[in-house]
Amino acid sequence: MNGRWKKELESEELLDVIFAYASRITIENNLDRLLSLMADMGRDMTVAERCMLWLYDEQKDELWAKVEERTKEVRIPASSGLAGYVFQTAEPLVIEDAHHDDRFHADMDLTYNYRTKSVMVIPLKNKQNQTLGVYQVINKLTKEGVFTTRDVKKLSLAASYTAQALEAVLMNMEMEEAQKEIIFKMGEIGEVRSKETGSHVKRVAEYAKLLAIKSGLSEEEADLIKVASPMHDIGKVAIADAILNKPGKLSKQEFLEVQAHASIGYHLLQNSKRTILKAAAIIAKEHHERWDGKGYPEGLSGEEIHIYGRIVAVADVFDALATDRPYKKAWDLEDILTHFQNEKGKQFDPALIDVFLENLHGFLQIKKRYED
Ligand code: C2E
Ligand code: SIN
Ligand code: SIN
Ligand code: SIN
Ligand code: FE
Ligand code: FE
Repeated sequence: MNGRWKKELESEELLDVIFAYASRITIENNLDRLLSLMADMGRDMTVAERCMLWLYDEQKDELWAKVEERTKEVRIPASSGLAGYVFQTAEPLVIEDAHHDDRFHADMDLTYNYRTKSVMVIPLKNKQNQTLGVYQVINKLTKEGVFTTRDVKKLSLAASYTAQALEAVLMNMEMEEAQKEIIFKMGEIGEVRSKETGSHVKRVAEYAKLLAIKSGLSEEEADLIKVASPMHDIGKVAIADAILNKPGKLSKQEFLEVQAHASIGYHLLQNSKRTILKAAAIIAKEHHERWDGKGYPEGLSGEEIHIYGRIVAVADVFDALATDRPYKKAWDLEDILTHFQNEKGKQFDPALIDVFLENLHGFLQIKKRYED
């Protein structure tokens, strides 16, 4: 008996493996962690040395997988290799020695300094029978050293079950992407109306994220502010062109009309239950409040103003001053800095002005990167 060999799992051991992974797979909502759980389960169930999960990327017509040794994903054309073959045929494949099969990419072994011998590849299908990708297990560790029809059945069952978990996570990511895109597009509506260039919302989003990170908010919250801030002026859709694009100074009445954009934006967004839109509603309403309480629409002061509103206020005004507007030319940097110094603790949260001045270089880099 050679000590390197492992035994096939007994039924009870197999159940243990399935239970141990199933409970974690159903609640996992992070794609990378889910893929790694699914791969580990496939490996343990079939007593294989390693397991890779290839997912189909429709846009690129490629299969991609995470490999332990690499932080970056591996990609192959969707018709290439054993994985590609099974993806195309949607039928399981069992091979005793991959190096005797011309479909196999032998260079993968060279790259990873690895010796692939036995291989089993199983299509990963969703309920609509679409193939999402393939499961590939490599090197059966039993004495016989080959995958069996029983392995095909076991892994196929596991694949059909885990495909559902996988689809749920992919769908969720898709929804989040769609949500971000819609928000961005809507933000641009406000822009078009006020004849500002599309770069304004991009810059404000980046400035706001930088301010958030540097003032100690978490990466997640900074990202939330970044995706929500492009909508800060969405309420401007309701303001007359003649006012928004007026070349000169606004009359008192006209300025009052423009000011309504803050609460109009809030009312457009406030009823959503989505995290991003809720943040966007707060920002739309509070980005013109002032630290000293003399802002609008509510005249909130200090920390009564949500941190998102205080952050976007600095980001928005920096961009308004640093670029041309229909009614004014861009200011020199000197003047902008003096203005922020003077308004520290008046218009703006003093702590945020410190963060801004300490990280001026980062702001100027963003301005440069997103020039109109
Ligand atoms: P905006 O042009 O994007 O300006 C955003 C904010 O940047 C302003 O909010 C203000 O806090 C700051 N800001 C912009 N330009 C200047 C400036 O020359 N000096 C100073 N001290 N601050 C400036 P605010 O004042 O509540 O204005 C909201 C929006 O109302 C502006 O957005 C713009 O669309 C419009 N608006 C304000 N003033 C005028 C104006 O004189 N003429 C025209 N046509 N529109 C104006
Ligand atoms: C990725 O390439 O990392 C994602 C592609 C996909 O989800 O299909
Ligand atoms: C293939 O299945 O041949 C592609 C991936 C690999 O070479 O391991
Ligand atoms: C803008 O930033 O596009 C307009 C200024 C504002 O009302 O925030
Ligand atoms: Fe505004
Ligand atoms: Fe703005």
